[in-house]
Amino acid sequence: MDGPAGAGKSTVARTIAGRLGFLYLDTGAMYRALAYKALTEGVDVRDDEALSELLADTVIELYPAEHGNVEVILDGVDVTEKLRTPQVNATVSQVAGFASVRTEMVARQRVLASQGGVVMDGRDIGTCVLPEADVKFYLTASLDARAQRRYHEMQRMGYNISLARIREEIEHRDMLDSSRPYAPLSKADDALLVDTTDMEVEEVVAYMIEVCRQRLT
Ligand code: DC
Repeated sequence: MDGPAGAGKSTVARTIAGRLGFLYLDTGAMYRALAYKALTEGVDVRDDEALSELLADTVIELYPAEHGNVEVILDGVDVTEKLRTPQVNATVSQVAGFASVRTEMVARQRVLASQGGVVMDGRDIGTCVLPEADVKFYLTASLDARAQRRYHEMQRMGYNISLARIREEIEHRDMLDSSRPYAPLSKADDALLVDTTDMEVEEVVAYMIEVCRQRLT
Protein backbone atom coordinates (compact mmCIF):
# COMPACT_ATOMS: atom_id res chain seq x y z
CA MET A 1 0.00 0.00 0.00
CA ASP A 2 1.49 3.29 -1.09
CA GLY A 3 0.41 6.89 -1.16
CA PRO A 4 1.17 10.38 0.11
CA ALA A 5 1.16 11.52 3.75
CA GLY A 6 -2.26 11.57 5.37
CA ALA A 7 -4.04 9.47 2.74
CA GLY A 8 -5.13 7.10 5.50
CA LYS A 9 -2.69 4.28 4.72
CA SER A 10 -1.69 3.38 8.26
CA THR A 11 -5.24 3.42 9.66
CA VAL A 12 -6.53 1.32 6.81
CA ALA A 13 -3.50 -0.99 6.64
CA ARG A 14 -3.59 -1.80 10.35
CA THR A 15 -7.33 -2.46 10.26
CA ILE A 16 -7.09 -4.73 7.24
CA ALA A 17 -4.14 -6.60 8.71
CA GLY A 18 -6.11 -7.16 11.92
CA ARG A 19 -9.17 -8.48 10.10
CA LEU A 20 -7.25 -10.75 7.76
CA GLY A 21 -4.92 -11.98 10.50
CA PHE A 22 -1.87 -10.51 8.75
CA LEU A 23 1.05 -8.60 10.20
CA TYR A 24 1.06 -4.86 9.66
CA LEU A 25 4.48 -3.48 8.69
CA ASP A 26 4.78 0.29 8.79
CA THR A 27 7.87 1.08 6.71
CA GLY A 28 7.57 4.82 7.37
CA ALA A 29 8.27 4.03 11.03
CA MET A 30 11.64 2.59 10.01
CA TYR A 31 12.67 5.83 8.26
CA ARG A 32 11.28 7.78 11.20
CA ALA A 33 13.33 5.69 13.65
CA LEU A 34 16.52 6.46 11.75
CA ALA A 35 15.66 10.17 11.56
CA TYR A 36 14.96 10.17 15.29
CA LYS A 37 18.26 8.47 16.08
CA ALA A 38 20.17 10.92 13.88
CA LEU A 39 18.49 13.86 15.63
CA THR A 40 19.18 12.55 19.11
CA GLU A 41 22.80 11.63 18.33
CA GLY A 42 23.54 14.87 16.49
CA VAL A 43 24.22 13.16 13.15
CA ASP A 44 23.84 15.52 10.19
CA VAL A 45 20.68 14.44 8.35
CA ARG A 46 22.05 15.92 5.09
CA ASP A 47 25.10 13.63 5.19
CA ASP A 48 24.20 10.36 3.48
CA GLU A 49 27.44 8.62 4.40
CA ALA A 50 27.01 9.44 8.07
CA LEU A 51 23.40 8.26 7.93
CA SER A 52 24.35 4.98 6.25
CA GLU A 53 26.99 4.34 8.88
CA LEU A 54 24.46 5.10 11.57
CA LEU A 55 21.93 2.74 9.98
CA ALA A 56 24.51 -0.07 9.75
CA ASP A 57 24.81 0.21 13.51
CA THR A 58 21.07 0.37 14.17
CA VAL A 59 18.53 -2.34 14.95
CA ILE A 60 14.90 -1.46 14.20
CA GLU A 61 12.22 -3.93 15.26
CA LEU A 62 8.49 -3.67 14.59
CA TYR A 63 6.06 -5.53 16.84
CA PRO A 64 2.28 -5.73 16.78
CA ALA A 65 0.80 -3.72 19.67
CA GLU A 66 -2.69 -3.01 21.03
CA HIS A 67 -5.42 -1.88 18.63
CA GLY A 68 -3.39 -3.00 15.64
CA ASN A 69 -0.71 -0.41 16.31
CA VAL A 70 2.96 -1.04 15.72
CA GLU A 71 5.52 -0.84 18.50
CA VAL A 72 8.89 0.40 17.28
CA ILE A 73 11.97 -0.76 19.14
CA LEU A 74 15.13 1.11 18.28
CA ASP A 75 18.32 -0.55 19.53
CA GLY A 76 16.30 -2.29 22.23
CA VAL A 77 14.38 0.82 23.37
CA ASP A 78 10.70 1.50 22.73
CA VAL A 79 10.56 4.78 20.74
CA THR A 80 7.01 4.41 19.42
CA GLU A 81 5.82 7.64 21.02
CA LYS A 82 8.80 9.63 19.77
CA LEU A 83 8.49 9.14 16.05
CA ARG A 84 5.63 11.49 15.15
CA THR A 85 7.00 14.70 16.60
CA PRO A 86 7.25 17.87 14.48
CA GLN A 87 11.08 17.47 14.53
CA VAL A 88 10.95 13.98 13.05
CA ASN A 89 8.23 15.04 10.58
CA ALA A 90 10.47 17.85 9.38
CA THR A 91 13.55 15.68 8.75
CA VAL A 92 12.32 12.23 7.76
CA SER A 93 11.87 12.94 4.04
CA GLN A 94 15.45 14.16 3.86
CA VAL A 95 16.68 10.96 5.51
CA ALA A 96 14.47 8.79 3.28
CA GLY A 97 15.76 10.53 0.16
CA PHE A 98 19.21 8.93 0.15
CA ALA A 99 19.74 5.90 -2.10
CA SER A 100 22.20 4.32 0.36
CA VAL A 101 19.69 4.54 3.20
CA ARG A 102 16.86 3.23 1.04
CA THR A 103 18.85 0.25 -0.28
CA GLU A 104 19.46 -0.96 3.25
CA MET A 105 15.90 -0.26 4.41
CA VAL A 106 14.42 -2.05 1.40
CA ALA A 107 16.62 -5.10 2.07
CA ARG A 108 15.39 -5.17 5.68
CA GLN A 109 11.78 -4.72 4.59
CA ARG A 110 12.01 -7.64 2.17
CA VAL A 111 13.28 -9.86 4.97
CA LEU A 112 10.35 -8.78 7.17
CA ALA A 113 7.89 -9.58 4.37
CA SER A 114 9.52 -12.82 3.28
CA GLN A 115 7.23 -15.05 5.34
CA GLY A 116 4.16 -13.62 3.57
CA GLY A 117 0.92 -12.71 5.33
CA VAL A 118 1.81 -9.04 5.69
CA VAL A 119 0.21 -5.71 4.92
CA MET A 120 3.03 -3.27 4.24
CA ASP A 121 2.61 0.45 3.78
CA GLY A 122 4.99 3.11 2.54
CA ARG A 123 5.85 5.05 -0.60
CA ASP A 124 7.67 2.50 -2.78
CA ILE A 125 6.21 -0.84 -1.71
CA GLY A 126 4.40 -1.69 -4.95
CA THR A 127 7.08 -0.22 -7.19
CA CYS A 128 10.27 -1.29 -5.46
CA VAL A 129 10.11 -3.26 -2.19
CA LEU A 130 7.55 -5.89 -3.21
CA PRO A 131 6.92 -5.62 -6.94
CA GLU A 132 5.41 -9.14 -6.85
CA ALA A 133 2.90 -8.34 -4.07
CA ASP A 134 -0.40 -10.21 -4.51
CA VAL A 135 -2.49 -7.07 -4.06
CA LYS A 136 -1.38 -3.46 -4.49
CA PHE A 137 -3.24 -0.31 -3.54
CA TYR A 138 -2.37 3.33 -4.03
CA LEU A 139 -4.28 5.48 -1.54
CA THR A 140 -4.66 9.16 -2.09
CA ALA A 141 -6.87 12.07 -1.02
CA SER A 142 -7.01 15.81 -1.64
CA LEU A 143 -4.36 17.91 0.08
CA ASP A 144 -7.04 19.60 2.20
CA ALA A 145 -8.47 16.30 3.41
CA ARG A 146 -5.02 14.96 4.23
CA ALA A 147 -4.06 18.12 6.09
CA GLN A 148 -7.29 17.95 8.13
CA ARG A 149 -6.58 14.36 9.14
CA ARG A 150 -2.99 15.12 10.19
CA TYR A 151 -4.22 18.20 12.05
CA HIS A 152 -6.63 16.11 14.14
CA GLU A 153 -3.91 13.49 14.70
CA MET A 154 -1.48 16.17 15.97
CA GLN A 155 -4.19 17.71 18.18
CA ARG A 156 -4.90 14.30 19.71
CA MET A 157 -1.18 13.97 20.45
CA GLY A 158 -1.21 17.37 22.16
CA TYR A 159 0.71 19.39 19.55
CA ASN A 160 -0.64 22.85 18.94
CA ILE A 161 0.18 23.40 15.26
CA SER A 162 -2.07 25.33 12.90
CA LEU A 163 -3.88 23.62 10.05
CA ALA A 164 -2.17 25.98 7.59
CA ARG A 165 1.29 24.97 8.81
CA ILE A 166 0.45 21.26 8.63
CA ARG A 167 -0.90 21.74 5.11
CA GLU A 168 2.38 23.40 4.09
CA GLU A 169 4.47 20.66 5.71
CA ILE A 170 2.52 17.91 3.98
CA GLU A 171 2.79 19.67 0.65
CA HIS A 172 6.52 20.07 1.14
CA ARG A 173 6.96 16.44 2.18
CA ASP A 174 4.90 15.24 -0.80
CA MET A 175 7.12 17.29 -3.08
CA LEU A 176 10.30 15.80 -1.58
CA ASP A 177 8.93 12.24 -1.59
CA SER A 178 7.64 12.48 -5.18
CA SER A 179 10.58 14.29 -6.75
CA ARG A 180 13.51 12.42 -5.24
CA PRO A 181 15.58 10.71 -7.94
CA TYR A 182 15.69 7.32 -6.23
CA ALA A 183 12.45 5.32 -5.70
CA PRO A 184 10.10 8.33 -5.58
CA LEU A 185 6.52 8.05 -4.41
CA SER A 186 4.58 6.79 -7.40
CA LYS A 187 1.72 4.47 -8.18
CA ALA A 188 2.69 1.02 -9.47
CA ASP A 189 1.04 0.37 -12.84
CA ASP A 190 -0.82 -2.60 -11.39
CA ALA A 191 -1.91 -0.87 -8.15
CA LEU A 192 -5.58 -0.06 -7.59
CA LEU A 193 -6.09 3.65 -7.04
CA VAL A 194 -8.33 4.51 -4.08
CA ASP A 195 -9.22 8.17 -3.53
CA THR A 196 -10.27 8.40 0.12
CA THR A 197 -11.19 12.14 0.11
CA ASP A 198 -14.90 11.54 0.59
CA MET A 199 -14.76 8.03 2.01
CA GLU A 200 -15.13 6.85 5.59
CA VAL A 201 -12.41 4.55 6.88
CA GLU A 202 -14.86 1.65 7.08
CA GLU A 203 -15.85 2.11 3.44
CA VAL A 204 -12.21 2.02 2.31
CA VAL A 205 -11.48 -1.01 4.48
CA ALA A 206 -14.54 -2.94 3.25
CA TYR A 207 -13.64 -2.28 -0.38
CA MET A 208 -10.03 -3.30 0.07
CA ILE A 209 -10.85 -6.45 2.03
CA GLU A 210 -13.25 -7.48 -0.72
CA VAL A 211 -10.49 -7.01 -3.31
CA CYS A 212 -8.05 -8.99 -1.14
CA ARG A 213 -10.51 -11.84 -0.71
CA GLN A 214 -11.06 -12.03 -4.46
CA ARG A 215 -7.36 -11.92 -5.25
CA LEU A 216 -6.13 -14.19 -2.49
CA THR A 217 -8.56 -17.07 -2.93
O1 DC B 1 4.29 7.11 6.17
P1 DC B 1 5.09 8.10 7.03
O2 DC B 1 4.54 9.49 7.01
O3 DC B 1 5.30 7.59 8.42
O4 DC B 1 6.52 8.16 6.32
C1 DC B 1 7.55 8.97 6.82
C2 DC B 1 8.48 9.40 5.70
O5 DC B 1 9.25 8.30 5.25
C3 DC B 1 7.79 10.00 4.48
O6 DC B 1 8.15 11.36 4.34
C4 DC B 1 8.32 9.24 3.31
C5 DC B 1 9.29 8.26 3.84
N1 DC B 1 8.99 6.89 3.41
C6 DC B 1 9.59 6.46 2.26
O7 DC B 1 10.28 7.23 1.60
N2 DC B 1 9.42 5.17 1.86
C7 DC B 1 8.65 4.33 2.57
N3 DC B 1 8.51 3.07 2.15
C8 DC B 1 8.00 4.78 3.73
C9 DC B 1 8.19 6.08 4.13
